[in-house]
Amino acid sequence: MVNLVLLGAPGAGKGTQAKMLAGKYGILHISTGDILRENVGNNTELGKKAKGYMDKGELVPDSVLIDIIRDRLSRPDTDNGFLLDGYPRTIPQAEALDNIFSQLGKILDVVIDIEVPDEELVARLAGRRMCKCGASYHVTFNPPKEDGICDVCSGELYQRDDDTESSVKTRLVAYYNQTHPLIDYYTNKGLLRTVSGTGGIEDIFGEITVVIDKILE
Ligand code: AP5
Ligand code: MG
Repeated sequence: MVNLVLLGAPGAGKGTQAKMLAGKYGILHISTGDILRENVGNNTELGKKAKGYMDKGELVPDSVLIDIIRDRLSRPDTDNGFLLDGYPRTIPQAEALDNIFSQLGKILDVVIDIEVPDEELVARLAGRRMCKCGASYHVTFNPPKEDGICDVCSGELYQRDDDTESSVKTRLVAYYNQTHPLIDYYTNKGLLRTVSGTGGIEDIFGEITVVIDKILE
């Protein structure tokens, strides 16, 4: 069993790798972006609060995210291990996570940072296509078998609302100002491992599994 955090800039491949890792290790994939988008889609109070921030590419306030993650980690389906994708994103969120872990008697085993240069991030986000079933593609780097159609469920693919040029710029600024300091935070705790996020999806997956397998030894 392993509890881990995947760090990385927007477009680094957190979601792509998280789905594969969840399958291989039988752990839960918890994506705060997916939770927020589901709430936006269902027009819940939370969704209404979050949408404006998300569309612009800004971070949703810490207090909202901390409540979401405390609630999610309190459920028994997290007892067999989980992977956090998109949380924490700020130092206060990381500090809150430490408290939540100690209150729930859970341990954070490792934080894996996926590193990708900015030019590549922009190209990845511009070409990303999503399906409502949760599958994700890239028009060039990871295309579906049939243009615009999901391999898994045959649904029609769409672009995320925040994959516009101006949102992507804001997301990168938010990443460097607010999220990047987490690299030092987790290095100081001895939890950080870094993998290169450039190259093939399967190769990166291989590198991450080497890190996790060492933890599980
Ligand atoms: P979130 O959904 O977490 O978005 P993000 O961090 O911007 O990251 P992405 O999902 O865009 O990228 P990814 O790393 O998952 O990459 P992917 O695998 O899709 O958050 C969205 C918003 O919600 C935030 O902006 C914020 O407003 C809010 N939010 C969420 N969590 C929050 C928090 N904790 N605090 C505050 N606000 C929060 O890959 C990208 C593309 O590249 C795909 O097309 C994929 O096919 C392709 N690709 C993947 N790997 C490779 C590869 N190796 N080579 C080539 N292409 C590749
Ligand atoms: Mg993602």
